[in-house]
Amino acid sequence: MEPLIVVSHPLVQHKLTLMREKDTSTASFRQLLREISLLLAYEVTRNLPMTTKSIETPLCPMEAPAIDGKKLALVSILRAGNGLLDGILELIPAARVGFVGMYRDPETLQPVQYYCKLPDHLDERISIVVDPMLATGNSSAAAVSLLKEKGAKNIRFLCLLAAPEGIKHMQEVHPDVQIVTASVDSHLNDHGYIVPGLGDAGDRMFGTK
Ligand code: URA
Repeated sequence: MEPLIVVSHPLVQHKLTLMREKDTSTASFRQLLREISLLLAYEVTRNLPMTTKSIETPLCPMEAPAIDGKKLALVSILRAGNGLLDGILELIPAARVGFVGMYRDPETLQPVQYYCKLPDHLDERISIVVDPMLATGNSSAAAVSLLKEKGAKNIRFLCLLAAPEGIKHMQEVHPDVQIVTASVDSHLNDHGYIVPGLGDAGDRMFGTK
């Protein structure tokens, strides 16, 4: 397993640049996020295990390739994860979907879970945790821990942007989790924002401040 995949495809990079621009409207940001999430979903599923199944074409029977195993589990970290989730579901409509809500305790700065609803049989599924921004990595790593507590054994993490600090944290806590991202940015600022980044992903996709 490659521990970190940076998706350098020109379409991904071009769309990401448009998303980073501060004057990009909420509508455009949302549309770009939808488009980019399809391309990222393509990459994160590139090496799914395959099998064959017997089908009949109009001409003859054949053994045709098909994805092996149970349906994927997509797990969105609320709320910004939902922006990535929508596009991925267009590509993988049969996936099972879970949600994890985390907020940061202002005193301890540690993530606190306020919501969790996950698909069943996680031990038999490949799980893909989605959150656009891997910043400190605290909430993402906590969400992955939660999945593992619920039985998940095969987990990938998909984000749009990652800070080196977040990657380091995730890889220290969960070395078995592959990270797929469109970019590794420079660093985190004092407020925990990714630099150069794109600002607050949730605010930008939902038009809040
Ligand atoms: N979350 C965001 O939305 N943006 C950042 O830069 C960091 C965390």
